[in-house]
Amino acid sequence: MKATVASIVTLAAGLATPKRATGVQYFGVNIAGFDFGCATDGTCVTTKVYPPLLALGGPDGEGQMSHFTKDTSMNIFRLPVGWQFLVNNQLGGTLDSGNLGKFDQLVKACLGTGATCIIDIHNYARWNGKIIGQGGPTNEEFASLWSQLATKYASEEKIMFGLMNEPHDVPDINAWAKSVQAAVTAIREAETKASGSAHSILIPGNDWTSAAAFPTKSGPALLSVVNPDNTTTGLVFDVHKYSDTDNSGTHTDCTTDNISSAFAPLADWLRTNKRQAINTEMGGGNTESCQKYVCDQIAYLNKNADVYVGYVGWSAGSFDPQTYELSEVPTKTGDTWADSALVQACFKKAA
Ligand SMILES: *[C@@H]1O[C@H](CO)[C@@H](O)[C@H](O)[C@H]1NC(C)=O
Ligand SMILES: *[C@@H]1O[C@H](CO)[C@@H](O)[C@H](O)[C@H]1NC(C)=O
Repeated sequence: MKATVASIVTLAAGLATPKRATGVQYFGVNIAGFDFGCATDGTCVTTKVYPPLLALGGPDGEGQMSHFTKDTSMNIFRLPVGWQFLVNNQLGGTLDSGNLGKFDQLVKACLGTGATCIIDIHNYARWNGKIIGQGGPTNEEFASLWSQLATKYASEEKIMFGLMNEPHDVPDINAWAKSVQAAVTAIREAETKASGSAHSILIPGNDWTSAAAFPTKSGPALLSVVNPDNTTTGLVFDVHKYSDTDNSGTHTDCTTDNISSAFAPLADWLRTNKRQAINTEMGGGNTESCQKYVCDQIAYLNKNADVYVGYVGWSAGSFDPQTYELSEVPTKTGDTWADSALVQACFKKAA
């Protein structure tokens, strides 16, 4: 039974410790491939894109998502894509109909599963080495990209807009907040113009969107980002966290759940500021140590679902499950899909 608002209030009044809702609203994985060729300096070699779609000569991302929703109960997928691909290398230009058409096949496949789908611009706050609003693309060029995407998907309610993957080494955080604000304003204006619904917008901080760094480094500046009506409805902070020794997500062994160093202090900060966050990249290798630490981290997020909206593992999609260290790609034998060891152990609805 779903508790109504009234019954929650009654419960809260009657009990010393009111029971929280069980578990985060969303969990799922990244479906990577349209971001292949993108590097941390914001270059994206568009010829290296490897679409996770059979129809485009790639792996069966559509089948993966269908399996994940049916058999693993996932309800969110993040779809990384390079900025250069969407505008065919013309900074500030219009979305390239051919390339957008290809990416849109993946978006449609995702929506077709009934899941929520995050559009993630995988550019590290940069275009070809230069930072948005700080020597690189202008805020107007960044906002133009998002205005066009919001126009295209205005009527699709189950889409979230992930403004930017992993900004890092951004010198001026207040200037970055202005760049983010430009995108938010452009999205809201486009939605209104197209009579669309207000989508969730994921707001990224500096430091590779580190969950640990967010409360002290980026959070204070990003609290100023608002909707045109000055509310923050639908503005969700975007954080990442890997559990390997240097938090880079490049080692197959895990050494931390980063609860005390990252997720607990961030939860306190979010409550204090009456805001929420989503963890859109997390995970580890298919190893015993990661099965422990990643499962522990997920359990913590589930217990703090008032401030954590969900988690999205890295990664399924076009990676090779035989060779990729952090593979969450399911494998198919006959008609049966099998999940990676980590997904099998940790990615499930909270009990
Ligand atoms: C939002 O806040 C700004 C600055 O405080 C103010 O100038 C503006 O009128 C407000 N807008 C709305 C719609 O309330
Ligand atoms: C994550 O946890 C490990 C072990 O507790 C700690 O050494 C590391 O500094 C933490 N990382 C961050 C970014 O908080």
